[in-house]
Amino acid sequence: MAVYLDHNATTPMRPQAVAAMVEAMHVVGNASSVHGFGRAARARVDGARRQVAALVGGAAANVVFTSGGTEANNLALRGCGRRRVLVSAIEHDSVLGAIEDAERIPVDAHGVVDLAALERTLAASTEPAIVAVMLANNETGVIQPVAEVVRIAHRHGALVACDAVQAAGKIALDMAALGVDYLSLSAHKLGGPQGAGALVLRDGAPLSAVQTGGGQERGRRGGTENVAGVVGFGAAVEIAGRELDAFARLAALRDRVQAALDGARVLGADAPRLPNTLNVAMPGVPAQTQIMALDLAGIAVSAGSACSSGKVKASPVLRAMGVAEADAGSALRISFGWNSTEDDAARMIAAWMDVYRRLASPSPRLRAEGRGKGAPQVGYGRGAPLDTAPHPNPIPAGGDRERKTAA
Ligand SMILES: Cc1ncc(COP(=O)(O)O)c(C=O)c1O
Repeated sequence: MAVYLDHNATTPMRPQAVAAMVEAMHVVGNASSVHGFGRAARARVDGARRQVAALVGGAAANVVFTSGGTEANNLALRGCGRRRVLVSAIEHDSVLGAIEDAERIPVDAHGVVDLAALERTLAASTEPAIVAVMLANNETGVIQPVAEVVRIAHRHGALVACDAVQAAGKIALDMAALGVDYLSLSAHKLGGPQGAGALVLRDGAPLSAVQTGGGQERGRRGGTENVAGVVGFGAAVEIAGRELDAFARLAALRDRVQAALDGARVLGADAPRLPNTLNVAMPGVPAQTQIMALDLAGIAVSAGSACSSGKVKASPVLRAMGVAEADAGSALRISFGWNSTEDDAARMIAAWMDVYRRLASPSPRLRAEGRGKGAPQVGYGRGAPLDTAPHPNPIPAGGDRERKTAA
């Protein structure tokens, strides 16, 4: 069986969420209909609303269901009524792309937002603003000082939107303690289905609908509710919330892999991180080559980089951290999840060491053992040399097509 270590891209659904969705799919009514069928659907949607609110310590009435984290981020930034938008330089594309002329707040070498720069930028204008800072970064797992961001922003009369898509279900979350005005969530990052998410509002936070229609979600998001989707989301949230301690124990697996990858540079390791995320650079070996080699060895991970026109480009997140191009272009994201095992970690280590031995400059330890580059090539995929072996799913080269890593 292949080993899946790309849980930050999407994590397998919890069996409880699948079961809840199957049951909900047999519900006939439209949640807006006033008859009994409609009320049955509405009851399920509102049950999920309470489950989602409970995970983040919010109020059920303030949960606006969306099609996912992307829509939640767009809704917050476009629906808050503020024209001046400040975003951290490491935000997800759904934040960076939501507002074209947003002002960027830099991060330090550890991937943590620069609070002094935020303060300076806010002080430079009296125009009411909104600040977007994520709770945990999808590539490095680095956790941001969101409560401090809020204190600074509120002092300047700014609202705060927090993308908690990667943090929810992985670390404890309390909206009131963070003080944020908007919090974005996505079901498929915590064991629910793809295509469901929510924006949770602080009591009284301003919001106008961006997507208009039948006035659903109290007029804040038009469109018939995805009953099965939000029910699966609610069930996943419930179990993820109960199993936060188990999730925290994934740090042991992550740290075991991190310690074993001798010769790799760990990015973001000196800041507080999600327990499941590891971003490592294997100097001298393009991330794409590593991903394909690991894929052939039955290990699924992703690049901390974007691939454009067949060339690996440094990830904007790593670039914002000032990581050298060579390291950024060889950075892998390894992310564990609720069903990861010791054996997954062991197989990841063995596969990585094998790729490293064949492709990279040897680390002092490997050199001492007489291994590493320069040692006889052990071949790739039934004897073919590594760099010419065919991959079943090659990255398209040329043209202006862009293929990005799943975030
Ligand atoms: C930090 C972050 N924000 C937002 C998103 C988008 O969420 P969704 O896939 O539900 O649209 C993702 C996932 O790709 C993410 O990692």
